[in-house]
Amino acid sequence: MSGSRVALVWSVCTLSTLLPFVYCQKGLTQALIASYAPRVYLCPGEPFLPSSIDFALQNEQVDINGIPVGGQPATLTPSNLNFQNSPNGAEKSSHLTTKEPLSSPSSFNPAFLKGQTPATVPVYAIVVPRSLTSTSVYYWFFYPYNLGKDVGLCLNQIGSDLTMSISGPDVAPASSSMAVRAPSSAAKCTGYQRILGDHIGDWEHLEIRFDISGTAPRPTSIYLAAHNGGANFTWGDPTIQLYQSTHPVVFSANGSHGTYNTPGNHDYGTKTVLDQVIGVYDVTGNGVVWDTFNKVVVVNYRADASYTGAESWLAWSGFWGNQKDACLLPNVEESCTLSDGPVGPQYQTSAS
Ligand SMILES: *[C@@H]1O[C@H](CO)[C@@H](O)[C@H](O)[C@H]1NC(C)=O
Ligand SMILES: *[C@@H]1O[C@H](CO)[C@@H](O)[C@H](O)[C@H]1NC(C)=O
Repeated sequence: MSGSRVALVWSVCTLSTLLPFVYCQKGLTQALIASYAPRVYLCPGEPFLPSSIDFALQNEQVDINGIPVGGQPATLTPSNLNFQNSPNGAEKSSHLTTKEPLSSPSSFNPAFLKGQTPATVPVYAIVVPRSLTSTSVYYWFFYPYNLGKDVGLCLNQIGSDLTMSISGPDVAPASSSMAVRAPSSAAKCTGYQRILGDHIGDWEHLEIRFDISGTAPRPTSIYLAAHNGGANFTWGDPTIQLYQSTHPVVFSANGSHGTYNTPGNHDYGTKTVLDQVIGVYDVTGNGVVWDTFNKVVVVNYRADASYTGAESWLAWSGFWGNQKDACLLPNVEESCTLSDGPVGPQYQTSAS
């Protein structure tokens, strides 16, 4: 879509305060949005359940480099989280931090990190106009904790580049075929067994696009976000089951909560410039059912983040979890046992 078209859409969709979003939200009522909210299967044995943001915030404070920010509310809530009101300033280096300290970078001792009974947990639905005929609804899921992966790790110097290869605990790092490292033995990088990618605060989502050119919104595609970048499906794709004919049935990965359309093992298999990953899986299955349509908080996206009242948490641009810790390479997020918490939906590129 061209820039001018985007600008036109935004002016139609966001400038009017008297007739807010009338066109771009056409027919996307609370009831309709709830009718497409997913049924989520958590994994059997999942220790880290979802929660409301209210629940997590009660147990957290805002820190910058480990020091609590002065003048913050004694108890954070969705309405007061944006107390700094500095989206391009101090907030950028602010971290929601567990009031009870973690006893080590890989521990999850604060009890609230286990989340809440899913039946009580809302899904946050953000309505984002895309064009004059298409609007997306992002269904965001919040979990207080993301469990990282226990992996074998190899560091290798190739010329001046330091590269990393990562393998699941049961997999010997491939040697010649990976062209990353010729391990001295077939062992799985023994001595470098390590937990990578734990983090406090976990925002996950799926997106449904609606064609709004007709009399009623019509879903056209659904995108499931997961660690490996996610997958896009045409609405009606037979590999996505629909519960009660409209609710997509999705599966949340054990501990890390990526969203998939089937139960089973899903290859984590990312391949970035810095790392090669083999034999690391997300596991999903038919555990506890979370029917998100029972509690849907609908928010209309504001490009300028001018949210107020109970929606003002969306404007806060800091990290939703403790600062990273125990990193092998100081500037490489993927090498940390405790990664930074994620930024909120407003500041994740996929939301806009
Ligand atoms: C999910 O993770 C928990 C904790 O690591 C484990 O006890 C459980 O067996 C896992 N579930 C599956 C299906 O692997
Ligand atoms: C998903 O595919 C549809 C076409 O089927 C396309 O219009 C849409 O842009 C895609 N969505 C994403 C997030 O890639």
